[in-house]
Amino acid sequence: MALPKVYVSQRILKEGRDILEGQVSYRMWEGEGAPDRDILLREVQFIDGLLSMPADKIDEEFFQQAPHLKVVSQHAVGFDNIDIEAATRHGVLICNTPDVLTDATADLAFTLLLAVARRLVECSGYLRRGEWRTWYPDMWLGMDTARKTLGIIGFGKIGQAMARRGRGFGMSIVYFNPSPKPEAEKELGARRVSLDELLRISDYVSIHCPLTSETRGLIGEAELKKMKSTAILINTARGLVVDQRALYKALSEKWLWGAGLDVFEVEPVPADEPLLSLSNVTVMPHMGSATLDSRGGMSRLAAQNLIDALQGRRPAYVVNPEVLDR
Ligand code: DGY
Repeated sequence: MALPKVYVSQRILKEGRDILEGQVSYRMWEGEGAPDRDILLREVQFIDGLLSMPADKIDEEFFQQAPHLKVVSQHAVGFDNIDIEAATRHGVLICNTPDVLTDATADLAFTLLLAVARRLVECSGYLRRGEWRTWYPDMWLGMDTARKTLGIIGFGKIGQAMARRGRGFGMSIVYFNPSPKPEAEKELGARRVSLDELLRISDYVSIHCPLTSETRGLIGEAELKKMKSTAILINTARGLVVDQRALYKALSEKWLWGAGLDVFEVEPVPADEPLLSLSNVTVMPHMGSATLDSRGGMSRLAAQNLIDALQGRRPAYVVNPEVLDR
């Protein structure tokens, strides 16, 4: 019997390729960056399964071009690039890769928090430029973490892992989430508050919610104005949760102390993005899950979800189970 046909839209790690080998007949995009839309739309006409990346726009037009498609297995926990309703209408199963990247993403969020708080990048540049001539008591003063309040927007697995790190540093935890998380509250001494209260009382605000129609632009000028002028904003979730122009205004006019950003409204972020000119902003190129273990796990899981769906088993992580339960 012919093997199912699969397209992999970016080169995945060997852990994932090993799982695909012999189970499906696959082609993998080996070019620079993501494949152009016309390449993706051409490939999709012939395939049973797609192993997708957050850069792929998977919408109604895409599904219309894919008469044989049964599954889109996303190599990410986030799936805001996929029109889930359209997928369900077309009977296409959508899978994702949670859990394996929780700790790595929380690690990066906390790394950014500390880097901004202690002005790591600014100080490093000052030293490397040969400007360090003497030591003085008020040089490059930063912010403490102990006894401060960490406000977490989105209290799922990654938000809770961030809270765990905050607790380890002696911080109090508040969170804003659509549903209460009583077990995590008990474990972490966390308190559920309104978004307004969180913004008002937090010394650090870290964003961990998915990008949805409710969270798009959640943090705009009005919300940033509610934050303390000494506060730091961390975003490792999705760039579009924050209004980037408003954030630039807040940071350049100094009514917000600093920001650590791993995600942007447009990615890759253009070099002339105004935020990049600010010394109180620390940036990373969307690297939350970029560790050997996490990316290996994501590749393995995305490949296994795909194979399970194509071989008639229920994949471990399904976003639209209605397709299976029909
Ligand atoms: C995710 O898994 O959603 C990360 O942001 C990587 O894209």
